Amino acid sequence: MAFLDNLYKEIILEHYKRPRNRREILDATVIQDGINPSCGDELELYLVIDNGVISQVGFIGEGCAISQASASMMTEAIQGKSVLQALKTSESFKKMIHNDEPDEDLGDLIMLQGVSKLHARVKCATLSWVTLERALAETDES
Ligand code: FES
Repeated sequence: MAFLDNLYKEIILEHYKRPRNRREILDATVIQDGINPSCGDELELYLVIDNGVISQVGFIGEGCAISQASASMMTEAIQGKSVLQALKTSESFKKMIHNDEPDEDLGDLIMLQGVSKLHARVKCATLSWVTLERALAETDES
């Protein structure tokens, strides 16, 4: 991961080794599969949405360090947000990863900005976010 700043790399690897919210949620209101077509790695996302707010989020799956760290960071970024806010954050994250200016302050997610320099890893970093968008499209709480 030479394309990532050293400090950021350590934090990203820490998310990979100890992913946050890596769990199935048995009473999830939305469950969504996602796949990275480039490598076949898969992820399953679990959300509990109450009155338009994402009250719980979890994921399981296999993948590279970037995909797993990105999923872990995503769960922290969206928990407690409304569906609309989460969609806005997802849009901003994807803009950053595609080397565009994000619409909002992305906090810790900025650590993944270096991925934008390596085209082959963009799908790894966006796997969980694309899965989130598909999951939220399934709900009528937006
Ligand atoms: Fe499969 Fe990154 S190589 S998600």
